[in-house]
Amino acid sequence: MRPRRQYHAARLFLFLTSMAVSMLPAALPGPPRTEQELRIFYQRACATCHGEDGSAVSTSGKNLKGRDFTAERAMSKSTDQALVKTIQNGIYFGLDMPSYKRDLTHEETLLLVQNILRKARRGESILAQSQVPAEKRAQAIPPSDTR
Ligand code: HEC
Repeated sequence: MRPRRQYHAARLFLFLTSMAVSMLPAALPGPPRTEQELRIFYQRACATCHGEDGSAVSTSGKNLKGRDFTAERAMSKSTDQALVKTIQNGIYFGLDMPSYKRDLTHEETLLLVQNILRKARRGESILAQSQVPAEKRAQAIPPSDTR
């Protein structure tokens, strides 16, 4: 009798945990990131492809076919919402970019677009414009954000 009951308890536990996990909000819980924290996030998550200054002229950014956040004319062709959508959903055809739905809320992504990407200037590190002290920079990034 006893082992059977334990088995049921274990199954119930697994079921409830999986339910709880599936109900988690898409983005990480906690207070929304500040602009400075988002600059740090950019450096960690986006700079390898889009360049430290957002111009995509360095590193693998060359493969972005000149998609340059610092070029006002090119950027003015896309609305904030379109850019937010790209960041949230990623790009899976042809050129690849990961989806950041699980890492950034809609509000955080909008802040990133309006206050950071739209203000990017060629040759100026997006992170360097952050006032966050060095020791705080590492803390601002949860472990899941290290891609
Ligand atoms: C693995 C490389 C990679 C990473 C990492 C990456 N991107 Fe991208 N991103 C791309 C590619 C490729 C494109 C498509 C360029 C194109 O359409 O010509 C793109 C396009 C975009 C666009 C659309 C630009 C436009 O004018 O429509 C935005 C905005 C953007 N990325 C923001 C980000 C942000 C913010 C991050 C980090 C949170 C990020 N990307 C991380 C590769 C990457």
